[in-house]
Amino acid sequence: MTSSPSSRLPKAELHLHIEGTLEPEMIFALAERNKVPLKYASLDALRAAYQFKDLQSFLDLYYASMVVLRTEQDFAELTAAYFTRAHQQGVVHAEIFFDPQAHTQRGVAFQTVIDGLWSVIRDSETRYGVTSKLIMCFLRDQSAESAMATLESALPYGERLVGVGLDSAERGNPPSKFQAVFDRARANGLKAVAHAGEEGPAAYVWEALRLLKVSRVDHGVRSLEDPTLVAHLRDEKTPLTVCPFSNVRLRVVDKLQDHPLGKMIDAGLMCTVNSDDPAYFGGYVGDNFDGVSKALKLPQATLVTLARNSFEASFIDVTERQRYLKLVDEASHTAFVGASAEPALPNETASQLTPNPA
Ligand code: HPA
Ligand code: ZN
Repeated sequence: MTSSPSSRLPKAELHLHIEGTLEPEMIFALAERNKVPLKYASLDALRAAYQFKDLQSFLDLYYASMVVLRTEQDFAELTAAYFTRAHQQGVVHAEIFFDPQAHTQRGVAFQTVIDGLWSVIRDSETRYGVTSKLIMCFLRDQSAESAMATLESALPYGERLVGVGLDSAERGNPPSKFQAVFDRARANGLKAVAHAGEEGPAAYVWEALRLLKVSRVDHGVRSLEDPTLVAHLRDEKTPLTVCPFSNVRLRVVDKLQDHPLGKMIDAGLMCTVNSDDPAYFGGYVGDNFDGVSKALKLPQATLVTLARNSFEASFIDVTERQRYLKLVDEASHTAFVGASAEPALPNETASQLTPNPA
């Protein structure tokens, strides 16, 4: 893999679903190892299915593909592969989502999932030079009872988790549905984040803030539809974990040039840039930085601010934060925009995302 220009910029990734890093090659390798039948005859046939019309059409393939993950070793290898790629793109800290219900409901034990992830997370710093934390997400299209049962099974492993999140199909599944679950998670010392304002309305962002008491909003791009909310997010410095390639691939926006990130920054919002499900959306976090820098003509100073925000918004302690901010300051003196602004993973998606200038 070639390294992307902004890979020289140290950054934290705060919105990354580990199951969304399952690359097509790994899907086939694990299917063979675990004797799981696949619907697709070849890598090309699988990749051809990566055309999404909305969040749900992506989620259908995302859940169908992850059935190849069965053993602790599978979850460990998936996580290790992510760290290798993330490190190459300048990630020095990652706060990683996982979706336990997507595994337990098909017969994989919670312990298998958490032990596999933890075996790599535990020493990601010494093995990959990336510090990391785990955030357990609830599937919002499942019941609140199922989320509460998942929380109960996770609490004995509470030391391994920094927080809880909320993901999956947003429309019709407002944050309010999970208020009691989030209350219990926070009472047990877990931080709260939630996907809101991706496909759902700005009202869901308000609910995530007021009812779930989230520290960050995942996506949140539709917040722009409510000026009072924008002012609130700005005044409270609430971080938004924005995922530009994801928003294009899931048709939240038509093309990268139309992405509202520039407007959000101009409105004074504390934005970060992230990859969401990089194996499905055409690039890892450095590629997202390169993509928006080129498509929105963001100056280097803005990329530096985005990188600084990623540490400000992270759940690391003060000492670690200072250490990372210093790294950003040092890197800001070298040029990492320009040279080659081609995406690091020159595939079909990347070229769709960033059309070549005429
Ligand atoms: N939105 C909601 N749920 C998800 C996503 C997303 O972008 N990726 C994985 N689960
Ligand atoms: Zn997400």
